[in-house]
Amino acid sequence: MKLFLDTADIDEIRTGVRWGVIDGVTTNPSLYAKVHDRTYDDVLTEICTITPGPVSAEVVSDDVEGMLREGRHFAKLADNIVVKVAMSENGLETIKRFRAEGIKTNCTLIFSANQGLLAAKAGASLLSPFVGRVDDINEEGMIIIRELAEIVNFYDLDAEVLAASVRHPRHVTDAALAGAHVATVPFKILQQMVHHPLTDLGIARFKQDWEAARAAMAANA
Ligand code: E4P
Repeated sequence: MKLFLDTADIDEIRTGVRWGVIDGVTTNPSLYAKVHDRTYDDVLTEICTITPGPVSAEVVSDDVEGMLREGRHFAKLADNIVVKVAMSENGLETIKRFRAEGIKTNCTLIFSANQGLLAAKAGASLLSPFVGRVDDINEEGMIIIRELAEIVNFYDLDAEVLAASVRHPRHVTDAALAGAHVATVPFKILQQMVHHPLTDLGIARFKQDWEAARAAMAANA
């Protein structure tokens, strides 16, 4: 399973890439809004140079020509840009046009398996169901991941299911078990995945015993 970082923060991406666990990055207008001092283009260009895999850049226009214009511009910034297009009637047409031009797309704001199926048929290479936002309204977001992954695999569709809107580490495990090809996670959740209280306790105990053994050796010498 691939792991993407869901952030526009360069330091977080550098850290995740250093750890060797990051395969790509997803950004969106809300994540970019947290970066105050640089243009979206500048941020994307830098993210693309430090990220080994795809970097999603989201368009905000509602009309096909506007989305095409924005997406073509992003695609020129780097080879690993994937244009993020929201699910809609115009979005599907835009995805199809990008596919014909050889520009990869990530269909975002997916909230049902049917929406994901349509996005895959239009030619999106990444399908992004928003797990957390579904859970937020007291429904089961992971069902969409499971259904869509099954459909993609059953019909051998040329698309990957990307679990988005991840809220906690358990979402990552559940998405992996449900067959998601990718999960995109905020940096804080990546850190939570690293740590376990028994690991921390174990490290401290080994260190303590090591020091005690060395002290005993020194006393016997
Ligand atoms: C990623 O592609 C999505 O835009 C992101 O995961 C949405 O997360 P949120 O629901 O926490 O805003």
